[in-house]
Amino acid sequence: MAMEETFIIIKPEAVAKQLVGEILARFERKGLYIKKLGVTQIEEEVAREHYAHHRDKPFFPHLIEAMTCGPVILAVLEGEDAVAQVRNIVGATDPAKAAPGTIRGDFALRLPYNMVHAADSPDNAQAEIRRFFG
Ligand code: CMP
Repeated sequence: MAMEETFIIIKPEAVAKQLVGEILARFERKGLYIKKLGVTQIEEEVAREHYAHHRDKPFFPHLIEAMTCGPVILAVLEGEDAVAQVRNIVGATDPAKAAPGTIRGDFALRLPYNMVHAADSPDNAQAEIRRFFG
């Protein structure tokens, strides 16, 4: 398996709960490398573009508010099979269903507050890296 890059956002609720170090440590301990790291507050227009595939869902306005209400951490992580490895560490989308030991299983209670966004394919990871890091 070749080296691969993926993209994550540590969401505003995780920054507010001072979980940034804990979350990044889980990826590093697994053996993934932090290739890029940044802190920003996401503009509403960028959040709407990032989640455009959810724009017709009833939770869309709440999701956009939750993603733009405070600072986030943006990161590019690299390692073998990084997209799948990172999604395993992050856990299921719904924190109520995420397994204990995953980030969402350990630190989150309910949607949309699931602490971390992680790209779902190498192609989407590259598109998201371009969107957020230019
Ligand atoms: P994320 O992995 O960032 O991708 C889309 C986000 O939409 C997801 O995490 C959640 O934050 C949110 N989301 C997905 N499904 C629901 C839902 N049923 N209700 C509220 N928020 C949701």
